[in-house]
Amino acid sequence: MDRIAITGGAQLNGVIPVSGAKNSAIKLMAASLLTDEPLRLTNMPRLADTRFLGKLLTRLGVSVTESDGPDGQQTILHAPEITSGFAPYDLVRQMRASFNVLGPLVARSGQAKVSLPGGCTIGARPVDLHLQALEALGAKIDLHEGYVYAQAPRGLKGAEISFPIVSVGATEHAMLAAVLADGVTVIKNAACEPELVDLQECLNAMGAKVEGAGTPTVTITGVARLKGATHAVIPDRIEMGTYAVAAAMAGGEVRLTNARPELIESLSVKLEEAGATVVRTEDGVIVKRNGSRLNAVDIETAPFPGFATDLQAQFMALMTTANGESHIRETIFENRFMHAPELMRLGADISVHGGEARVRGVAQLEGAEVMATDLRASVSLVIAGLVARGETVVSRIYHLDRGFERLEEKLGACGAQVRRIKGDGEPEL
Ligand code: EPZ
Repeated sequence: MDRIAITGGAQLNGVIPVSGAKNSAIKLMAASLLTDEPLRLTNMPRLADTRFLGKLLTRLGVSVTESDGPDGQQTILHAPEITSGFAPYDLVRQMRASFNVLGPLVARSGQAKVSLPGGCTIGARPVDLHLQALEALGAKIDLHEGYVYAQAPRGLKGAEISFPIVSVGATEHAMLAAVLADGVTVIKNAACEPELVDLQECLNAMGAKVEGAGTPTVTITGVARLKGATHAVIPDRIEMGTYAVAAAMAGGEVRLTNARPELIESLSVKLEEAGATVVRTEDGVIVKRNGSRLNAVDIETAPFPGFATDLQAQFMALMTTANGESHIRETIFENRFMHAPELMRLGADISVHGGEARVRGVAQLEGAEVMATDLRASVSLVIAGLVARGETVVSRIYHLDRGFERLEEKLGACGAQVRRIKGDGEPEL
């Protein structure tokens, strides 16, 4: 399998265009199941996760065509009819968000059999809230041999759905199902992440009546059918935040474009507190750091607009060489510190106690061989490698390929010494 080697020490200077958001694109792709007309998604990232979902959608009857369109990378998804309502374990387990095909399948064809996604390295990640939402909309749900059997032969019915905790995936899933339900659905304690707003905009372009996304209350007035549409995927705030952290780590000046500064405001504030300069621009941010060492800063992850859990690992990497002691609290997932022992292999001084990590900044990291454990953890190792003395080699980078488009190219264009070492196809031990 491929590995990534980084030779530390180079500053980053240049421009990085931010890709479309993975975590939005995969929900928008699922929306194609809701209509018999083509859905054209532009600003589409080309990632392992979008490929996984494309494969599953194809099995369900959607034609998925990737191409370079007049406005860049596009994917056209067209489901004239649903040919299968079955999402097997081998596909859902590869990418948890595939589970979100359940709601659209039931909404459009009245039934589905979708594998439960199973566990995940960052936490248990149950789907109970997704199922409660579908039940509230009138679907009959049975769990049997690892599969969810959902039925609503006479269609879904609008309902009030009140989530006990904020869940991005469950809110999206409820929206995807409720757009074709009969009557009005009100989702309370909805997640407010920008990807929800993106989903609302796409669904409304398809003829749905959704309002309130981006606030805790989302109201959906069901319609009988949806039509095709063209929609541009929102910029990837996690990719944007990752490169912002990389620039602060390596020093230099990096301009992030094709994005929006407000998507990473909670991170920008912390980067400034640490001593980096962040200039908000019309289409992104410029992140600069001169030679001086950053200061330790505490963070606590929270739902949007709080500090994103998907940027926690990257920020921890940044803090490994900051001046002083930083406290990092993870409140969204119960096991999201797998990167800590790998960062320690590079010489970081980190101790983890439950949901909190204490990072004591060291003057210098040392390159070593390390292993990626999940998507965001793997990029935190690349960020640390940018300043580690000598060479850092990250293995299991298939995690990285799930969510970062052309990472070596983008960092390399700014002067980073990053190269991919092609593997022989054999799985690593
Ligand atoms: C989304 O996951 C993202 N994934 C995650 O990004 C992100 O970390 C997370 O939102 C939080 O922002 C995608 O969009 C594909 P949640 P999701 O439901 O929707 C608990 C990445 O690296 N919960 O908001 O699965 C859950 O266990 C990924 O790109 C239940 O208890 O997250 C967690 O503790 C990682 N029951 C909390 O809610 C449920 O039914 C929030 O999870 C659902 C969730």
